[in-house]
Amino acid sequence: MNEEQLDALIKRPKIELHTHIEGMAPPAFIRGLAQEKNVDLSKIFREDGSYDYRDFVHFLSVYEAATSVLTGPEEFARLTSAVLEQAAANDVVYIESFISPDFCGGSDLTAWKEYLHAIQDAAAVAERDLGITLRGIATPIRHFGPEKAKPAALCAAETAGEFITGLGMGGDENQGQQRDFAYSFDMAREAGLHLTTHAGEWRGPQEVREAVEDLGVSRIGHGVRASEDLAVVDMLIERDITLEVCPGSNVFLGVYDSLDKHPIEKLRDRGVKVTVSTDDPPFFHTTMRKEYADLARVFGWDGEIFDQIDKNAVDAAFCDADTKARIR
Ligand code: HPA
Ligand code: ZN
Repeated sequence: MNEEQLDALIKRPKIELHTHIEGMAPPAFIRGLAQEKNVDLSKIFREDGSYDYRDFVHFLSVYEAATSVLTGPEEFARLTSAVLEQAAANDVVYIESFISPDFCGGSDLTAWKEYLHAIQDAAAVAERDLGITLRGIATPIRHFGPEKAKPAALCAAETAGEFITGLGMGGDENQGQQRDFAYSFDMAREAGLHLTTHAGEWRGPQEVREAVEDLGVSRIGHGVRASEDLAVVDMLIERDITLEVCPGSNVFLGVYDSLDKHPIEKLRDRGVKVTVSTDDPPFFHTTMRKEYADLARVFGWDGEIFDQIDKNAVDAAFCDADTKARIR
């Protein structure tokens, strides 16, 4: 592939299914808010201005510290504008983002609705000006525990519709079990929401099986460690489960030493529906253009393979049929 072909490949319109809205915040945006609010966040930044953390669990605490300056709907509106601008600059035309009721008013329904209004107003402006569509996946945080997930899931259920299209679960996969959250996922399913959960990033294939069997999700956040058990891989194929794979995130956090050791190609080759996302791009020093460029370079992915990846993403997107027809 020559330079021109590679350039066209990485600048193609993209669909992204797995991002965390707070995790997309540019560090300068969070630093600016901290200054406005006189909050000392110097500990979470390196000298070069990037986020500073040692490992995944420390990442989660730095993430929560950064999120602490997003104190109201107005901050989330500004955040939404900033992150959609970044995504659109990477040719993303449709993006789904995890939004946590816990970080948006402490899972209080009245407050949550105010945050959603602010986020949706900002998203409407970005859609008009930049041609990018945002949908939200309401997201309980696993290490906050199953009891805290219930009011978050209730917020999701009560606002299920065109914008809030799914329930997801983020946070520390090493805490508790997927089935501990079945009550919340059942409530969301009954409200008509699509379901996904982080699984198979830090724990092995059994966690992926439990996500599917105990929560009934149709997509899995990461899921890559299913690759360690062919029976689980084949279960994903049989049940038509799509993986939200975040290769740059996995390499940056050390799930795999380097992209050439990442199982995305093996999974794709066997027939699993994989998609590509950035997770928390500034935290992992990545962008969608970089993800596409790295996959083309390391695995030789060409236009035909990216066509399939993009089709997988549209097929598995949580939006309605009209929106799918528009982005396909
Ligand atoms: N993984 C799990 N939980 C998260 C992440 C992530 O990358 N970002 C924010 N919450
Ligand atoms: Zn994630």
